[in-house]
Amino acid sequence: MKKVDLTTKIKNVIFKNPVTVASGTFGTTGEYSRYVNYNRLGAIITKTITVNPRLGNPMPRICETSSGMLNAIGLQNKGLADFIENKIPYYARIKSPLIVNIAGESEGDFAKLTAVLNKHKKVVRMIELNLSCPNVEKGGAGFMKKRRLIKQAVRAARSETDMPLMAKLSPELGDVLEIAGEVLDSGASGLSLINTLKGMSIDIEKRCSRIANITGGLSGPAIKPVALRYVYEVKKHYDVPVIASGGIMNARDAVEFLIAGATLLAVGTANFVNPRSTLDILEGLTDYCRQQGIRQIGQLRGSFHHVRPES
Ligand SMILES: Cc1cc2nc3c(=O)[nH]c(=O)nc-3n(C[C@H](O)[C@H](O)[C@H](O)COP(=O)(O)O)c2cc1C
Repeated sequence: MKKVDLTTKIKNVIFKNPVTVASGTFGTTGEYSRYVNYNRLGAIITKTITVNPRLGNPMPRICETSSGMLNAIGLQNKGLADFIENKIPYYARIKSPLIVNIAGESEGDFAKLTAVLNKHKKVVRMIELNLSCPNVEKGGAGFMKKRRLIKQAVRAARSETDMPLMAKLSPELGDVLEIAGEVLDSGASGLSLINTLKGMSIDIEKRCSRIANITGGLSGPAIKPVALRYVYEVKKHYDVPVIASGGIMNARDAVEFLIAGATLLAVGTANFVNPRSTLDILEGLTDYCRQQGIRQIGQLRGSFHHVRPES
């Protein structure tokens, strides 16, 4: 059987394949290790960490919807100090590069998180800036909805590190293409597209929301066409690395995102349906490349035809 080279690069970071996990959907350290050998993943992206611990939103915080799910976790996490003390030693044993997702209520938070993570560069290879979480009233969305502050957050992080910084955006923020340009000008190395879209679901017996926060972030197959569109459009405008997330449930979805130009493929909601979905996707992607005679994954990336080929 012909070997397929899936090696992917963002700046100076080399990934053995493009399959990774979307922030917040793969536990906080080893929860999925019964199902997935983490060393086989191209990279691991952590749940968002904030400077101080956060309890998150009241329960229930997730519910299933047609073709997707809603979540309003509210960035629950144990904070930066716990991450450094307890999570970094765990990830230090994993060979796949670690991408740490961070969020803050001020540019100072972004600077502090980045400065501390920058001291752990042997383990932390890249930072994803969560500029888009729709489930946090104070800070988070409130702070991040303001375009000027988004740019300041990116600049603040950039001033503390030379590591690649991936800015994670949601269409909820406004004109994604315009904001993408602004965050790239402010020092982001690439983009993460897309975070969830705000939605709601009503329990008709109780006549109330099925999640306590009333609204939550919609993810899964329902948002895939939207995510695909943004990955395609952003790649067309800016030649920068893109981490794609939004409804990547199987290898065919992964291939679509690669054809649109995605650099890494972050699998999110699929982990809740099938905890082994990342590896199934990796294996399916390898098979597809073999069938198509693709020897290096770069041959597939961005190979979208603007004119429909004659069959
Ligand atoms: C339960 C849950 C928790 C999430 N937590 C985070 C988070 O902490 N930080 C973040 O940037 N994105 C978070 N996300 C968004 C995902 O990383 C991803 O961008 C989004 O779900 C779209 O991908 P998917 O359709 O494959 O799930 C979360 C999504 C879900 C479903």
